[in-house]
Amino acid sequence: MHFKTIIEPFRIKSIEPIQFSTRSQREEYLRRAHFNPFLLNSDQVLIDFLTDSGTSAMSSQQWAAMMQADESYAGAGSWTRFENAVRDLTSMPYILPTHQGRAAERILYNHLGGAGKYFFSNTHFDTTRANIEFSGAKAVDLPIEEARNFSSDFPFKGNLDVDKLGEWIENVGAENVAAVILTVTNNSGGGQPVSMANAIAVSRLCKSKNIVFVLDACRIAENAFFIHQNENEYKGHTFYLIAQEMCALADACIMSAKKDALVNMGGFLALRNKSLADACTQLLIITEGYTTYGGLSGRDMEAVAVGLKEVFDADYLKYRIRSTTYLGNALKEMGVPVIFPIGGHAVYIESDKLYEHIPVSEYPGQALVCSLYRTGGIRSVEVGSVMFGKYDEKGALIPAEMELVRLAIPRRVYTQSHIDYVVEVFEEIVKTKKQVKGLRIIQEPAFLRHFTAHFEELSQ
Ligand code: F0G
Repeated sequence: MHFKTIIEPFRIKSIEPIQFSTRSQREEYLRRAHFNPFLLNSDQVLIDFLTDSGTSAMSSQQWAAMMQADESYAGAGSWTRFENAVRDLTSMPYILPTHQGRAAERILYNHLGGAGKYFFSNTHFDTTRANIEFSGAKAVDLPIEEARNFSSDFPFKGNLDVDKLGEWIENVGAENVAAVILTVTNNSGGGQPVSMANAIAVSRLCKSKNIVFVLDACRIAENAFFIHQNENEYKGHTFYLIAQEMCALADACIMSAKKDALVNMGGFLALRNKSLADACTQLLIITEGYTTYGGLSGRDMEAVAVGLKEVFDADYLKYRIRSTTYLGNALKEMGVPVIFPIGGHAVYIESDKLYEHIPVSEYPGQALVCSLYRTGGIRSVEVGSVMFGKYDEKGALIPAEMELVRLAIPRRVYTQSHIDYVVEVFEEIVKTKKQVKGLRIIQEPAFLRHFTAHFEELSQ
């Protein structure tokens, strides 16, 4: 018997009220936030799909472990438990704790990077690219062709194009390649998974050329679910074993624990090579903290140690992916253009296809973000020309490649009725789409403008 209702594999012991508001209140909040939902207060938001990062609900086991944490400066028991959990997953001997993912990125990519160096990835996440470029190196994205074909249902659109990688390595010279980074799942590429076959091919090529292979493992449990589902050889494996096998292929592993370690803060850098670990440890101590805590308190490390095991629970992962897929499929059925197949942590909408009457220069993604908030109090994020657009010498917009809006779903936070509510809001979004207007930027900073830009709505 297969029931269609998605039951959360947990019951609720501690609750957090969310604030209801009327449409006219939200109109006012949005105006005060200059039509940029990053500038809203969280109590003005009903359903917060801004990010899945650091927004997980922790379990009673995690809270219990936190109460028993050891806050000693050096050699704390909490550190030992954190180190053991990370080492068991990654099989890497050198574990460096960091306060979040980008701190690990800064340490490793600063050390490996520099002018004249190249990094290749299925798609660099924005903090990954920023850290690489800050070091003076170049970051080149090499997604497979299918990644941009939204009608194809190829299950591993997060894969890296290994042929192109081979060509690039020949062209720039292996000695100038700082690292190859496989991000699982591929967040900037629609949250799409990477196959084990692809990870094996990347690993082989890197080994043959003596190039460092880094796994950005922040959503590795969700990725393991898709491997189990779609790669025949792994049907009999547990999700944890699949993740261990993937880590075993890499020379280094970076993780923002704020995703699949089910915590609100934390991260790590795991390494196989001693001299690389020694160099990175120097940087760790200078900026993050001593080697047995990095930027973390004992209780943060306890929560990671427990979360890294809990996330691989089969009932949890099935619920997690089913719930995201349920939302994506419901939107697809009502004609909302979504990136397909649906990824693990988020549903991505092609806003320019939904709002065909709004030109890219008037930011259809921001228009959808504003409509979602007005209509249903839902906060989402534009991943398009507001986030990645640039200007030419004449001040005209050079648009991003895609005009996406991301609905990122926090882990273990919302129930199926919350998701059903979001589906209902989208019915209204589709019905009223012709009335939605574009926006103009009236104030923006030089970098990362999407966080703080002010907008004005256009009258027609
Ligand atoms: N790598 C990937 C693939 C990420 O998605 C993120 C963060 C990071 C690295 C950086 O980790 O935030 O702990 O420093 N992604 C968040 C998001 C911010 O909303 O997708 P961090």
